Amino acid sequence: MPEPVPHMSPEEFRRVGRELIDWAASYMASVGRRPVTPSVSPGETAAKLPLSPPAAPEGDWDAIVRDLDAIVLPGLTHWQHPRFFGYFPCNASGPAILAELVSAGLGAQGMLWSTGPAVTEIETRMLDWLAEAFGLPPCFRSDADNDGRLGGGVIQGTASEGALAAMVAGRARCRRAMGVEHDDGPDPVFTCYTSEQSHSSIVKAAMVAGIARSASDRARVRLVPTDDGLRLDASALASMLAEDVARGRVPVFVAATLGTTGTGAFDPVPAIAEAVRTHAHPAAGPAWLHADAAWGGAALVCPEHRGMLDGIEHADSLCVNPHKWLLTNFDCDLFWTRDRRSLTEAMSITPEYLRNAASESGQVIDYRDWHVPLGRRFRALKLWFVLRHYGLSGLRAYIANHVELARGLEARLRADARFELPLARSLSLVTFRCRAGDDATRALVERINAGGEAFLTHTVAPVAGAGGVRTPSYLARVAIGATTTEAADVDHLWALIDDAAG
Ligand SMILES: Cc1ncc(COP(=O)(O)O)c(C=O)c1O
Repeated sequence: MPEPVPHMSPEEFRRVGRELIDWAASYMASVGRRPVTPSVSPGETAAKLPLSPPAAPEGDWDAIVRDLDAIVLPGLTHWQHPRFFGYFPCNASGPAILAELVSAGLGAQGMLWSTGPAVTEIETRMLDWLAEAFGLPPCFRSDADNDGRLGGGVIQGTASEGALAAMVAGRARCRRAMGVEHDDGPDPVFTCYTSEQSHSSIVKAAMVAGIARSASDRARVRLVPTDDGLRLDASALASMLAEDVARGRVPVFVAATLGTTGTGAFDPVPAIAEAVRTHAHPAAGPAWLHADAAWGGAALVCPEHRGMLDGIEHADSLCVNPHKWLLTNFDCDLFWTRDRRSLTEAMSITPEYLRNAASESGQVIDYRDWHVPLGRRFRALKLWFVLRHYGLSGLRAYIANHVELARGLEARLRADARFELPLARSLSLVTFRCRAGDDATRALVERINAGGEAFLTHTVAPVAGAGGVRTPSYLARVAIGATTTEAADVDHLWALIDDAAG
């Protein structure tokens, strides 16, 4: 007889669960008193763990909880720290954490409508809610027909996965238009375009999709130069597209970024869309236009930031990460398309074991056909809880507060002769450098981070110097966007910057 399985009893689950919720609540309340980054060396955390797994049940939950303090916390970079200003912060919030708990408790799989009708339908409704909340044009809604191409939104894990989904959808559409989707001969040479400032996930998507032969394949992934504001230069894009089409290449994908990672630049979507339309391959049709608003898109909740949507009705897809700046725990990338048909054509394969009457009726959405994974968690619960808890007014206040704090920091930096801001603040992202040069800026960032009281990161960007000549420059980045960041935290950061600059 096999041994009995030592499942957790409901009573024990309740007792330990309460303790862990208390633990997480205390952590969240006190994280601001910790150093933002850990002082651990490589291997130090692993050395605290046994080399082999427990052979028998430990049966001591108190010891497991104690190890969170002893082993985990000393080895963490505290992303929920109110003075975490690095990269783009990754928001957690009470409602989203509780939704994660419920989602795990339900353990539901929403790969098909039939394996989780509520998982699917709540997700569809959340994406429609957010399309409305962000002021997106109706073509991205789940009920949009778009001449039979169909619109709608889905939660992808990350913006990187969203870019990959968009790229393979674009390629599928071009193959269909060219009538080569069933050919056994070689593919044409497909090409993709994005700016020199766009996120590396675009090039990576091309690598994974088999369009780029390597990370540095600049023949198939063309990096378009930028203007002085580090926005994609649409006329340079037009020239590249024209040149490639003339050489028999097939442009399948163009990514515009709405809020670049380095400096928060917003690419000009109307001019990009115009270039894509004008320089469509004669047989394949226009390339797929994807708008990557992973970070900046959260600000769409505020009507005053909707200028970035100009021309978005010409984009085939758009993604926004609430896990960056909309109080929703990682992972949650909102991905809308106005050409669902091409997306599902690229992603759908139906083995016998997934066949079911609901899918065959054509009346339901099966989200497994919208991305790479088959299995999928109930992530829409996070959005549902967050939207119901904060309401749109709460989310607007949240974004507006961070933008205001960034404006204040920008003003302080501009008023101080030791610093210069070659680029304008973008929403809640401020980039600056020391007039004393790159080494001084690098030293400032390193000094602040070494102190542990705040954390920032940097970028190197080609910004105009004296005489308008653009040279790569080391810029400190302050991304305001952690859940609990308040004015006092930005004041604290300013004191650190002031001190570190000497
Ligand atoms: C503009 C932009 N796009 C894409 C990404 C990648 O996001 P994810 O981690 O969701 O793949 C980032 C991450 O910072 C980003 O800033």
